Amino acid sequence: MIATRLHPDKHIAAQSIAREIATLIQLRSKSGKSTVLGLATGSTPLPLYAELIRLHRDEGLSFRTVVTFNLDEYVGLGPTHPQSYRHFMEEHLFRHLDVPVSQIHIPDGLTNDAPHHCATYEAAIRHAGGIDLQILGLGRTGHIGFNEPPAAADTRTRQVHLDEMTRQDNSVFFGDLSLVPSAALTMGVATIMEARRIELLAFGEGKSAIVHRAMQETPSAKCPATWLQRHPHCTFHLDSGSSKQT
Ligand code: GLP
Repeated sequence: MIATRLHPDKHIAAQSIAREIATLIQLRSKSGKSTVLGLATGSTPLPLYAELIRLHRDEGLSFRTVVTFNLDEYVGLGPTHPQSYRHFMEEHLFRHLDVPVSQIHIPDGLTNDAPHHCATYEAAIRHAGGIDLQILGLGRTGHIGFNEPPAAADTRTRQVHLDEMTRQDNSVFFGDLSLVPSAALTMGVATIMEARRIELLAFGEGKSAIVHRAMQETPSAKCPATWLQRHPHCTFHLDSGSSKQT
């Protein structure tokens, strides 16, 4: 069952979700516990990250007890590549916060042993106690992370092929389609579904068709986001555009 929250706009949504994350971090750290956050890239979570940075800067919210796991990374792109997700996260979030470097995890796009690296990534999530709260965006193909269709419910962190629609969508950031990698490392559907709480963000009319499919279609590998219907605590944060019936 997916809960929905309709926000006046993406900035107000960001404020509300950032406040929930802050409360979670503060409550857990009071009882000496870390908070494990699953993080996403793409343009959608940017206002949320800006708001988390503001809470840190202006309201003294500390991230020292936070452990992070990013969903995915392009194969072949290293930390200094401007389009790598490692670089994206540094620029848009981590360099503005006090999360200890040793507590930040992002799949390594330059690994030469993907199966081993992915198994180690899964083990690190388990070792951290599992993900308390997972932030998700939504691709037009129905992907979550980079789980392109078809993606079964039991998929784990692994190397995947990117859909042509996804490469097209992301080519705006690379300047040219030929520069967009054709493979990525991503947490699997099962990895994502094990998060105790999932907050999916989707804004604007361009996402309305896929939001509708994700919520209405019978869960199947054809539209990986449909698996979220089986999650006990998943909320879709929408605006008037993305919640429009198509
Ligand atoms: C990217 C990411 C996803 C993201 C999605 C939507 O390719 N791998 O994690 O949710 O596509 O991107 P955007 O937020 O820019 O619409």
